[in-house]
Amino acid sequence: MKNLWINVLLLLLAATFSACGGGGGGGRGMIQVVEATFYFNFYEKSCPHAEKIVKEVVLSQFKFNQGIAPGLLRLFFHDCFVEGCDASLLLDPTKENPTPEKTAILSLSLRGYEVIDIAKQKLEAACPGVVSCADILAFAARDSVKVTGGPSYKIKSGRRDGRVSCASQVSPNIPSAGPNITELIDTFAAKNLSVQEMVTLSGAHTIGRAHCKSFAPIRNYAIDPAFAKCVNKVCPTKTVNNTVSLDATTPYDFDNVYFQNLVAKKGLLPSDEILFLDPHTNMEVLRNAKHFRRWKKKFVEAMIKMGTTDLKLGTQGEIRNNCRKINS
Ligand code: HEM
Ligand SMILES: *[C@@H]1O[C@H](CO)[C@@H](O)[C@H](O)[C@H]1NC(C)=O
Ligand SMILES: *[C@@H]1O[C@H](CO)[C@@H](O)[C@H](O)[C@H]1NC(C)=O
Ligand SMILES: *[C@@H]1O[C@H](CO)[C@@H](O)[C@H](O)[C@H]1NC(C)=O
Repeated sequence: MKNLWINVLLLLLAATFSACGGGGGGGRGMIQVVEATFYFNFYEKSCPHAEKIVKEVVLSQFKFNQGIAPGLLRLFFHDCFVEGCDASLLLDPTKENPTPEKTAILSLSLRGYEVIDIAKQKLEAACPGVVSCADILAFAARDSVKVTGGPSYKIKSGRRDGRVSCASQVSPNIPSAGPNITELIDTFAAKNLSVQEMVTLSGAHTIGRAHCKSFAPIRNYAIDPAFAKCVNKVCPTKTVNNTVSLDATTPYDFDNVYFQNLVAKKGLLPSDEILFLDPHTNMEVLRNAKHFRRWKKKFVEAMIKMGTTDLKLGTQGEIRNNCRKINS
């Protein structure tokens, strides 16, 4: 009886008007629905080549521009942490909703949206109206790990696309790059991800880059002076439009050198180096720096868990026709 009332309450909450357009989509705690609508090979009958089509697009685009791999991996993180993994991040501004998530300051350097568009076009040609943008993004992030030399793994699908996307929801949910360990731990805990999982997932910074505005200049006394000098030459101030690799040693390889760099005091972002400097996370950084296979396994587990954050399933949300627009 008590549970029933909680569900009724949740449904009422989900139905209330949203300031960010769309409406609908919410509703949690429907365990039986979850199990029946989120599983491996979800598109086996409805779109048998769905995962293969996404993989081929990621591979061919990667050959053309290696930067799409880190781009897609980061898109998935930012999508899942804001409104759940529902492709809300992919929505473009409209008259009705001029400030969706992608217009927030923390979203401005995200890249890889075009790859999702290409995959969506191919999937709409093969099986119209079947494969959600949220699943395409989940597959593409998984494939990006593989294509840069990381582990390959299977993921469940059946995610549905949201209709709500709000720039003001980004900064409360995505941590800043500052050295605030409490903020890092809290923003992950809010998604049911542990301190260890936060450290493990930060290992995604083994690929990709950051713009000067995210970290410059390096003034932290703890950072290796030669490394700091070198980085500060490229990024003397936040206003310079340059980029520096997050893993200075092997920026295109999905390896654990990122963690070894933190131990060597060569972490680019304050939020990276603090993981080694702070006693809450220091041990986990040391373990990951030393044991590549253990980290890879934990990374896969944590990615799978992150990919189940606040899902819309079953009849919730919709299957968008165009990943940049809600269906009319
Ligand atoms: C722990 C908290 C995290 C913070 C504070 C953080 C912050 C950042 C910042 C500031 C950048 C550089 C953006 C720019 O200047 O262009 C970045 C890049 C990146 N982040 Fe994170 N991040 C975090 C966790 C994650 C997670 C969990 C993932 C994925 C699982 C991830 C994947 C990436 C990737 C792949 C890039 C490179 C993007 C590119 O090259 O386009 N990050 N992150
Ligand atoms: C660190 O983040 C927490 C919230 O997560 C905040 O309460 C605290 O004021 C921040 N500390 C500093 C020094 O900014
Ligand atoms: C949170 O994570 C724990 C440990 O992985 C898991 O047992 C639990 O089901 C999760 N809860 C939610 C609401 O996702
Ligand atoms: C920064 O530089 C890149 C290419 O070097 C350019 O495409 C981009 O528009 C520039 N951004 C700004 C804010 O000037």
